[in-house]
Amino acid sequence: MEDKKLIFSGIQPTGTFTLGNYIGAVRNWGPLQDEYNCIYCVVDMHAITVRQDPVKLRQNTLNSYALLMACGIDVEKSILFIQSHVKTHAELNWILCCNTQFGELSRMTQFKDKSQKHPDDINAGLFTYPSLMAADILAYNADLVPVGVDQKQHLELARNIAQRFNQRYGDFFTVPEPYIAEIGAKVMSLQEPTKKMSKSDENPNACILILDDKDTIIRKCKRAVTDSEAEVVYREGKDGINNLMTIYSSVTGKDFAAIEAEFAGKGYGDFKIAVGEAVADHLEPVRSEFARLIQDKAYLKECYTAGAEKALRYSQRVLNKVYRKVGFVDKG
Ligand code: TRP
Repeated sequence: MEDKKLIFSGIQPTGTFTLGNYIGAVRNWGPLQDEYNCIYCVVDMHAITVRQDPVKLRQNTLNSYALLMACGIDVEKSILFIQSHVKTHAELNWILCCNTQFGELSRMTQFKDKSQKHPDDINAGLFTYPSLMAADILAYNADLVPVGVDQKQHLELARNIAQRFNQRYGDFFTVPEPYIAEIGAKVMSLQEPTKKMSKSDENPNACILILDDKDTIIRKCKRAVTDSEAEVVYREGKDGINNLMTIYSSVTGKDFAAIEAEFAGKGYGDFKIAVGEAVADHLEPVRSEFARLIQDKAYLKECYTAGAEKALRYSQRVLNKVYRKVGFVDKG
């Protein structure tokens, strides 16, 4: 690989992204590929820390892979693979588990939240989830990890694990830094615009999925919660309108002043339809590229097989050195 900084990120195999994931993160990954070496992985092994339907997991993993490609991740420029295809992640995880403290894992808020949500299945994998995430990152000695706020604590733990290993065994791992994107607006729920847009929202109208068709997108925008005024202006207290303006701005490139001028004297109804149409048109190329890719299973397989080979070659070298450092006998 070229001599550039290395970015690593893992993506849960949910099969689709929300408009919020897309605007806030995923669509910025394509342009990063020129400036950095990028490695992206669909984390099916993390997914099974909560109960999954095997048929759906397989489908969602492939869908996520194809969707990342459709969103601009170029398998020639970046390494894009499926986590369970690259055995070094599980192998390094074991070493890192032995360098992670029970107390550290117990303090993870995601573990506490998920334990509460699934009290009948607080499994050891859920507990050691952050060690596997650290293994994902450290197996490539990544410099930078793009993470949202919900993953900051896990990244902090990965840094601590790397530092502890380096202290015990001599400097080896790169201590990864969070990568904070300069661009990328935060998109809120269409139904409760003070909350982040989330796929797990019970109200399906709260959230636009990037594979939603045009009619669905327009319908969800039409039902978006606004306020009792009738002015399309960005102002404190107008959370719903502010959110729709943010979305409209993100997909059209127009700034708020231009949007206010465009809709001066028009009602919310017109504005909502315009937002829906702009979003749907913006997502159309992603949707059609996804449809093309997901039909071509042979090509997809070629891509993820090649991605896994590259990832294995890279991470195996790192793992071999780790094995030596901890005192395992060379297998020759
Ligand atoms: N835990 C991350 C999430 O839920 C996914 C993930 C797994 C990840 N391994 C990673 C993210 C490594 C960044 C780096 O979103």
